[in-house]
Amino acid sequence: MANIGQNYSSDFSIEQNWQDYSEEEHAVWRLLFERQQRLLVGRACPEFLDGLGALGVAAEGIPDFRRLGQVLDAATGWRIAAVPGLVPDDVFFAYLAHRRFPSTCFIRRRDQLDYLQEPDIFHDICGHVPLLMNPVFADYMQAYGEGGLKALGLGHLQHLARLYWYTVEFGLIATQEGLRIYGSGILSSAGESVYCLEDRRPNRIRFDLRRVMRTRYCIDDFQQTYFVIDDFQQLFDATRPDFAPIYDEIASQPDIEPDALISSDRKFDQASPSRLNGGKKMGRRLTAAQV
Ligand SMILES: [Fe+2]
Repeated sequence: MANIGQNYSSDFSIEQNWQDYSEEEHAVWRLLFERQQRLLVGRACPEFLDGLGALGVAAEGIPDFRRLGQVLDAATGWRIAAVPGLVPDDVFFAYLAHRRFPSTCFIRRRDQLDYLQEPDIFHDICGHVPLLMNPVFADYMQAYGEGGLKALGLGHLQHLARLYWYTVEFGLIATQEGLRIYGSGILSSAGESVYCLEDRRPNRIRFDLRRVMRTRYCIDDFQQTYFVIDDFQQLFDATRPDFAPIYDEIASQPDIEPDALISSDRKFDQASPSRLNGGKKMGRRLTAAQV
C-alpha cells in the first residue's frame, strides 16, 4: 500500500469533487486521451474499445464519477469508488468483491505524461473501467476480489498478485484480427502499447494459470513476458476452481524469472514484430502489495 495518510474512513473512500478540477487538469486528460485513442485503434481489444465508447469517456476532460458510475452500473452492476491512492490489500479486494472499482482522483502533471509511478485517474478510469462494461470481464474482476480475500488468509498473496499483473494490468488477447491488448497497464501507456505487440524482444506465451502464478514481474520497465488469453471466458474459467490446492502445488516449485522460457511454454506465434520501439513506459508502476 502507498502512503495515504491516517484520516480516512474504513474503506478509504473520498469525494471526487469533480467541480474542483482546474482547466489545466482537464487539458492534461485531453492530451493523454487523444494520444492514447490514436494508438489504441487496431491495438486494443474490441471489448475495450466498445466499453470506452459506451461509457462516453471522451476527450472533453476528466469524467465525473457520478455520471460514469450510472452508465457502468446499468451495464454490469459495477460502480466507481473514489480513493486517495493505493489502498490496503484487504480494502482493495473487498471493493472488487462488491463490484466497486477504487479509482484515484488526481491526474499527473503535464511533465509526467510519459511516466508516472503511482496510478492516476487516467490509468484507473481510461485503463480499467472500459473493460468493466464487459459482463464476463466484470465477473472475472469480482471473482478476483473474492480470491484476493481468500489468498490473504492463506498467505499466497504473491501468487495471486502475479495473476492480476499478467492479466488485468498487462494481458494480451488473441482475436481473429490478431493479437490485441486488454491489460490496463499497457492501455494507459503510449510506449508499451506499441512495444508489447510490435517489439521482437518480449516473450508472448499462451496463458497458463500455474505458469503465471510462478512468474516474477518487472515493476519499473516494459514487461519481458506477456501472457495471451484466447478470450475472457478462459480467464473467468481459470478463476473458478478453488486456488488452495494450486497454491500448495506451486509452493514447492521455483519462481520463474520475468524473461525466462520453460519447456512447457506454448509461444504465441501470430504476433508479427515489425519494428523496435524504445522509450520509457507511460502509465504507472504498481506495488506488488496492491496487485
Ligand atoms: Fe491498474
